[in-house]
Amino acid sequence: MSLLSVEGLTVQHPGARQAAVRDVSLAVERGEVLGLIGESGSGKSTLLKAWLGLIAPTSGVVRWGGEDLSTLSNLRDRRRLIQPVFQDPSAALDPRRSIAESLAEPFEIHRRPVTTAGLERLLADVQLPADCLPKLPRALSAGQRQRVAIARALALEPEVLLLDEPVSALDVSVQAQVLALLRQLRATRGLTLVLVSHDLHVVRALATKLAVMFAGRVVERGALASVSTSPLHPYTRSLFGGDVIPALDRPVGAEPGCAFRHRCPFATDACAVTPRLSEAPHAAACVMVK
Ligand SMILES: Nc1ncnc2c1ncn2[C@@H]1O[C@H](COP(=O)(O)OP(=O)(O)O)[C@@H](O)[C@H]1O
Ligand code: SF4
Ligand SMILES: [Mg+2]
Repeated sequence: MSLLSVEGLTVQHPGARQAAVRDVSLAVERGEVLGLIGESGSGKSTLLKAWLGLIAPTSGVVRWGGEDLSTLSNLRDRRRLIQPVFQDPSAALDPRRSIAESLAEPFEIHRRPVTTAGLERLLADVQLPADCLPKLPRALSAGQRQRVAIARALALEPEVLLLDEPVSALDVSVQAQVLALLRQLRATRGLTLVLVSHDLHVVRALATKLAVMFAGRVVERGALASVSTSPLHPYTRSLFGGDVIPALDRPVGAEPGCAFRHRCPFATDACAVTPRLSEAPHAAACVMVK
């Protein structure tokens, strides 16, 4: 049984003309790092929020440990075990509260004892000095603030981190340090990660498997090595620097058919029927891929 999965997930934002996530099925096993890649607007954040239970799907099922999220009785426990980290740590850190207060909050919410030594240990886990504790977030660098946000997510010893563009707001050198930290935390804590990024380098640095999103759908998924050495879908191939794909010159409509066909050099009449992903370990939703 997969640790996390979604089946046939569709999410339409209120007022939106078309679904941001369309019929997505994905599974993550314990210890895996699923990299979710795709251009801006492809539905990555929406998928992650539905997985976290922060927004309700229009249809489909979200599962945590095989259980349907919408009928889960121990939701509070699950919330503890699955923690988000967002692009902007300011969202997780109140500017008026000290780092110590922000780190103590998850313990207080879950009525757990909190000690200064415990908070210092948390900071050490993300390679920050103990003298950060009395400081306000603005006294820290952006990279340090993101480390605090990660420490806060780790406070209650979760099994899974869902990370949405966790290093996108950071300088490239700082990005590398935070990615190295995440790699180390994954190894020492046996964490399972879902890592969303529009940046292939970021996903490649950590992922064990990849899912490529385009216009709300997963168009390819498979092991990192397999997808990066032999990408199957024309969109993935364009992402990986092979074929040149013209930029999107019109919005992707809700009409059936491959959403990529207006950009795809290989499009034929056969592409007017929406291609589906097979069950194969490495699969692509394209009429050219069997
Ligand atoms: N709260 C919202 N209300 C309406 N539309 C939204 C909302 N959030 C996202 N969208 C739309 O859904 C689509 C997918 O957005 P998003 O999930 O943020 O993509 P990504 O994270 O890949 O950039 C976009 O077209 C975006 O404009
Ligand atoms: S289904 Fe057709 S349009 Fe879509 S990626 Fe494949 S060849 Fe291109
Ligand atoms: Mg996003």
